[in-house]
Amino acid sequence: MSNVTVIGTQWGDEGKGKIVDWLASRADIVVRFQGGHNAGHTLVVGEQVYKLSLLPSGLVRGKIGVIGNGVVVDPRALMIEIDRVTAQGLTVTPETLWIAENAPLILPVHGALDRAREAARGDRKIGTTGRGIGPAYEDKVARRAIRICDLAEPETLDWKLDEVLLHHNTLLAGLGADTFTKEELKAFLAEITPRLLPYSCAVWDRLDDARRAGRRILFEGAQAVMLDVDHGTYPFVTSSNTVAAVAASGSGVGPNSVGFVLGIAKAYTTRVGEGPFPSELYDAVGRTLGERGHEFGTVTGRPRRCGWFDAVLVRRACRVGGVSGIALTKLDVLDGLEEIAICVGYELDGEKITSFPSAPGAQARVKPIFETMPGWNETTAGARSWAELPAQAIKYVRRIEELIEAPVTLLSTSPERDDTILMRDPFED
Ligand code: GDP
Ligand code: IMO
Ligand code: MG
Repeated sequence: MSNVTVIGTQWGDEGKGKIVDWLASRADIVVRFQGGHNAGHTLVVGEQVYKLSLLPSGLVRGKIGVIGNGVVVDPRALMIEIDRVTAQGLTVTPETLWIAENAPLILPVHGALDRAREAARGDRKIGTTGRGIGPAYEDKVARRAIRICDLAEPETLDWKLDEVLLHHNTLLAGLGADTFTKEELKAFLAEITPRLLPYSCAVWDRLDDARRAGRRILFEGAQAVMLDVDHGTYPFVTSSNTVAAVAASGSGVGPNSVGFVLGIAKAYTTRVGEGPFPSELYDAVGRTLGERGHEFGTVTGRPRRCGWFDAVLVRRACRVGGVSGIALTKLDVLDGLEEIAICVGYELDGEKITSFPSAPGAQARVKPIFETMPGWNETTAGARSWAELPAQAIKYVRRIEELIEAPVTLLSTSPERDDTILMRDPFED
């Protein structure tokens, strides 16, 4: 029996939330360890649809949810989300939600700087969610972040805010954006402190107790390997590491607690925001995938760019992510397509290559090499067993396994929680 860590293997929105929700029934604690409210996870449970950004998906199953120190926390967004899910009937209390006291806060200056910088970039924008994620992580490594535990020492906030404002107002003014006063930020912190502090605790300590007591921990990644700040399509990435290794440092446990690494991959590919996407489709098939897959960003509502499954990228994600097995989602979206293609390599400046280059210019220039296979007419939507799948769909899954050099251990065939096929229980590995 081991813990499980779920990570995305493409550019996000692979269906991590659905899979985490499904696996959470077998776990005791679900931990978010990186990212912030740039994430958007949709969970469908019967008639109810839960849209979560910061709250760990396990809360929907009544499990303990943890926000680790690796997450950047926008306290206002968090409270709005808690209020929303409470109205949907969930119970969120300091007993069921633990937030790391050493997690950095996202302040109003961060969102403002994120948006001002994106506006200034014009055509060269990254396409961020505009939620202040990048600037908040920058402040963390620059050692000027306000962390949750600082709220318990209000006498220190004055000089900490001076340092924050010195940096951010200089930049905001330079970009021609509105600056902030200390009073504004103090009022913001005073407003959120009484609601936020009760959730704050030594997460590392509680997780260590849980681990010793043999409780099962499920680590819930946000974003995905191709958005990882080191391993992704830099600079068109998010500002955190998204690989499984970060589940440990982002929650305060040792690397041996990460357990089985379940990579989530969509049966095709999508991306929101700017940046290279070799297997992108600009034709009617791409539009069909977008429509059938309801490919609109959960956070920003932007239409997601769609393309064929890129086996080269997912193979790389599996390697750098230490993936033990894959959950392949949205197979049903491919139902009824006459032909399906998989990207198996690239051509770069007339040469064939089998791995994705690191330089952004080369990443933008690569042309995909596709392998095609016939599709299937039968429906896979709602299938709950391997036996219900058409032979051609099974062939597609098997081919993907071969190409990415990782086993498919779970299959998802609809947004619904239980429309899931389990080949190997990751908790039993
Ligand atoms: P996440 O960010 O990785 O959690 O993914 P999102 O929730 O942002 O996007 C995935 C979308 O696909 C959501 O709307 C899910 O309800 C939906 N979804 C998840 N798995 C499946 C599936 O197997 N089939 C279909 N049709 N939809 C799915
Ligand atoms: P989930 O967890 C898809 C993308 C943004 C942008 C880039 C940087 O739902 O899979 P940021 O605001 O993080 O600085 O934006 O990263 N991005 C995501 N794309 N799913 C996500 O999360 C994402 N989180 C960030 O669109 O291209
Ligand atoms: Mg999402």
